[in-house]
Amino acid sequence: MSNAAALDAFWMPFTANRQFKAKPRILAKASGMHYWTPDGRQILDAVAGLWCVNAGHGRPEIKEAVARQLETLDYAPPFQMGHPGAFELANRVAEIAPAGLDHVFFVNSGSEAVDTALKIAIGYHRVRGEAARTRLIGRERAYNGVGFGGISVGGIAPNRKMWSGALLPGVDHLPHTHDISRNAFSRGLPEHGASLADELERIVTLHDASTIAAVIVEPIAGSTGVLLPPRGYLKRLREICDRHGILLIFDEVITGFGRTGAPFAAEEFGVIPDLITCAKGLTNGCVPMGGVIVKKGVHDAFMQGPDGIELFHGYTYSAHPVACAAGIATLEIYRREGLLTRAKSLSKIWEDAAHALRGAPHVIDVRNYGLILGLELEPLPGKVGARGFDVFLKCFERGVLVRQTGDIIALSPPLIIEKAQIEQIFETLSSVLRAA
Ligand SMILES: Cc1ncc(COP(=O)(O)O)c(C=O)c1O
Repeated sequence: MSNAAALDAFWMPFTANRQFKAKPRILAKASGMHYWTPDGRQILDAVAGLWCVNAGHGRPEIKEAVARQLETLDYAPPFQMGHPGAFELANRVAEIAPAGLDHVFFVNSGSEAVDTALKIAIGYHRVRGEAARTRLIGRERAYNGVGFGGISVGGIAPNRKMWSGALLPGVDHLPHTHDISRNAFSRGLPEHGASLADELERIVTLHDASTIAAVIVEPIAGSTGVLLPPRGYLKRLREICDRHGILLIFDEVITGFGRTGAPFAAEEFGVIPDLITCAKGLTNGCVPMGGVIVKKGVHDAFMQGPDGIELFHGYTYSAHPVACAAGIATLEIYRREGLLTRAKSLSKIWEDAAHALRGAPHVIDVRNYGLILGLELEPLPGKVGARGFDVFLKCFERGVLVRQTGDIIALSPPLIIEKAQIEQIFETLSSVLRAA
């Protein structure tokens, strides 16, 4: 088979397939903070794979736990049967989740976590006798995965338009919170924009609270290019939800497991939702798994009435034993090495290094929180995304993997990163921008 033919069968997700296959970028090996290409080039991972390898690559403890699990119990049906790892992992997730969120429903991805959370929210109102509460409120520019629920509440146009006639009915969107004119080069949470949360009041007035089940937001929007919540914004959303009996869901698929400097962004920002979706860092990215962490009151509402199945929902691989083993080993590493709060101790170094890019060619915004960076570039006239893609390619050529979304470079390195590696990332970005 020719090289090109060997790449043909795999239809790559969220990828420019023809462009990629003409000039592939292959990762063959990983360890710690690095990837290696098949020809042995070392690449510094500035994005934790895809916001998921929070403890760094190739952790032997996870490998051993997975191997042990495969030898002991390769698979167990999750419907009407259980296995020890599922209960242990749920307890461990509940331990690090904000107080009161103490039940976990396991799924296999962030997308499944979002669709599951939306279903639980609608079901919650129904079992309490408020079956008219089915409306869901998402946000412009949100990424909530790619299930029909997720793209319906999500707000990234290309992810929606091909399926626009098939999206969930009864969905509204809050405005996004990005405002470079007032908030450019903010360090930490931006100053302006808390009042955008009041748009929720307007939506409630339009539809009446009795029709609205839930609001879902990413505490920090990641995939759209790192949009931070204005100071006070999330608190206001919480207050409005409380006032109207609406559930608040935080999609923490990228902010969970230490990214902001706390186990979950909810705790970091002091705003506690009713449900949290998570995935990615739950297993350090090495076995697919996600979860919905649910407040006691929401869970308990289902545990009433005659005995029988309370929620007609679940997946063949919910709480898969191998994923649970990986999850338990991962959380143990996070605990032992203090990784869930390590971003806090590095965030000042990260912030200073990031903001040194201010003034580099085409940089129109730098925004940061914990170990997250959004670097926004002026688009080339008539070619949105071209400049961002070029920077992504050039960084890769110079040995650093970054993530590009449009003309925004988003960074989220493994939480084990050291100061010298932070310097390498920003020196590379700076030299690429200045050479462009
Ligand atoms: C906030 C958020 N929600 C949901 C998802 C979907 O997760 P997955 O790709 O595991 O389905 C992502 C993925 O990046 C995400 O960032």
